[in-house]
Amino acid sequence: MRQVKIFDTTLRDGEQSPGCSMNLSEKIIIARQLDKLGVDIIEAGFATASPMDFKSVQAIASSVTNCTVASLARANKNDIDQAWDAVKQAAHPRIHLFIATSDVHMKYKLRMTRDQVLNTISEMTAYAKSKCDDIEFSAEDASRSDREFLAQCVSTAIAAGAKTVNIPDTVGYSTPQEMGELIDYLIKNVPSIASENITVSVHCHNDLGMGVANSLASVKAGATQVECTINGIGERAGNASLEEIVMALRTRRDFYDADTNIDTRQIYKSSKLLSNIIGVPISPTKPIVGANAFAHEAGIHQHGVITNAQTYEIMNPDEIGVPHRALVLGKHSGKHALRERLESMGYEINDEELEDIFIRFKKLADQKKTITSSDLEALTLHNSKIVQETKENAAPLCQIAGHVVNSASETPCVSYVKIKRDNEFLEDIAMGAGPLDAAFKAINHMLGVEARLEDFSVRAVTDGEDSIGEAVVKISSNGEMYTGSGISTDIIDASLQAYISGINKIFEEGR
Ligand code: KIV
Ligand code: ZN
Repeated sequence: MRQVKIFDTTLRDGEQSPGCSMNLSEKIIIARQLDKLGVDIIEAGFATASPMDFKSVQAIASSVTNCTVASLARANKNDIDQAWDAVKQAAHPRIHLFIATSDVHMKYKLRMTRDQVLNTISEMTAYAKSKCDDIEFSAEDASRSDREFLAQCVSTAIAAGAKTVNIPDTVGYSTPQEMGELIDYLIKNVPSIASENITVSVHCHNDLGMGVANSLASVKAGATQVECTINGIGERAGNASLEEIVMALRTRRDFYDADTNIDTRQIYKSSKLLSNIIGVPISPTKPIVGANAFAHEAGIHQHGVITNAQTYEIMNPDEIGVPHRALVLGKHSGKHALRERLESMGYEINDEELEDIFIRFKKLADQKKTITSSDLEALTLHNSKIVQETKENAAPLCQIAGHVVNSASETPCVSYVKIKRDNEFLEDIAMGAGPLDAAFKAINHMLGVEARLEDFSVRAVTDGEDSIGEAVVKISSNGEMYTGSGISTDIIDASLQAYISGINKIFEEGR
C-alpha cells in the first residue's frame, strides 16, 4: 500500500484567509495538535510576510517534535534567508519555494519570460538547498500552465535539489480527470521523478467545490503528498479539507491502495479546536466532522443502524474520535470520572487543567440537569488554562466579575460591568444602542482599549432548554482582528466572556 504524506497548511494558506487569523499562542496550540494528529509536514507560515509571521514560524519550529516544519518563500534570496532563519531550529526543517509557471501569471504578475522563470527556479532552488536539505518546489498555477513547460520547471527544480515537487491548482479550476492526467503526465515525462525518488505533491483549492476530488484523483494517478487544511479553511472557497481526504483514503483503501500516517481518532478534536479558536463554526452537513455526519433522522435509517451500523454508516464515528452524545456525567461525578471521560474524548490534560475544568464542571452541573459530551467539549475547549498554556509572561488576564445588563424597548440601554484584573477590581457603567453594546463600551472604557465589535454570534452547544450558549465575537483594534469566545448557560454572560477573551488577546499581542 502506498503511503501518502499529509502536508498541512492550516497555519499558512488557511490562516491567511479572512476571518481565520490566529495569534501566536493559538498557532502553537494548533501546531501541537497537528503534531499529535500525525501530519507529516506543518507549513507554519510565510516567514517574510510580516515580523509576526516570522516569529510564529520560529516558535512553531521549536514547539513540535515529530513532524517537518516548513516556511513558504518566494523564489528570491531574501525570502529564502528568512524562511531558513525561521525554520532552522526545527527537528526537521523544510523550505517551501514557489514561483508561478502559467503564462498569465508570468506575463501579468511576474513580468518574466519562460527562460527567466526557469533560471530563477534553478538558481533559487540551489540557493535554498545550500541552506536546507529538504526543499519543496511549487509551480504556482500549475494546473493552468503549459504542460511541457511545467515539466521543464519540475525537472529543473529537481536537478537543483528539490526533493518534493508540488503541483497546485491555485485557482481551483481543474477537474479530477484533468488533475489525474496532469500528475500522470509529469510522472511519465520527468524521468528524474522516478530516478531520484521525488515526492509528487498536490495542492488543490476549492473554488468549484472539487478540491478534495482533485486531490484524490491525483493520489490515484501517483501523487504521494497532499496539501490540505483542517476544516478546509483557506483563500476564497478554501483548500482541500484534511479530514475528508484522510477518511476517503482510509475508508476506500480498496480503491486508492493508499493510506496516511494520520491518527484518525484525533480528527474530530482537531477540527473542533480550530473552529473554536478562529470562531468559525462547522457546517452541520460537513462530511466527517459536521454535527449531522453521523446523525440518522429517518426512521428506516435509524432502524438499520441499530440493527447493524454497516447498513448506513460507512465509517465508525469512534475512528474519527466523535464523542458519544449520550449522557455522560452528573452533579456527583468526581474528578477521576471527569478525567477518564475527557481522555476517552482525546483530551490529555494535566492536573492543573483538570482542576480548572473541574471547578467549571461543578458550576455547570449546578445549572444544568445533565452534562453531555458536547458540554464537556465546550468546557474543555474554553478552558482558559489550555488557551494560556503556551504564553510566557502572559498579560494580566481580565475576567468578568459581575454585570447588570438591562434590556429596554427604548434606547439607549444602560449596562454595568465589573472586571477583575490581577487582584484589582474595576467597574464602569455605559450607555449603548443595545444592552451588549453598552456593556462592551463599559469594558473598553474601564480598560482604556480602542476596540470595535465587527461580528457577533451566539448558538446553543447542545439541545434542550438548559443548553450551554456559545458566543463568538470578532473585535478589531489597531487594524488587527481578534476572535474571542465564551460559554455559559446564560447568553449575556457568554457574550461578556467572549468579549473579554477577545480583549485579553489584544493585551497579549501588545506585550
Ligand atoms: O495555491 C497555491 O498555489 C499556493 C502555493 C504558494 C503553494 O498556495
Ligand atoms: Zn494555496
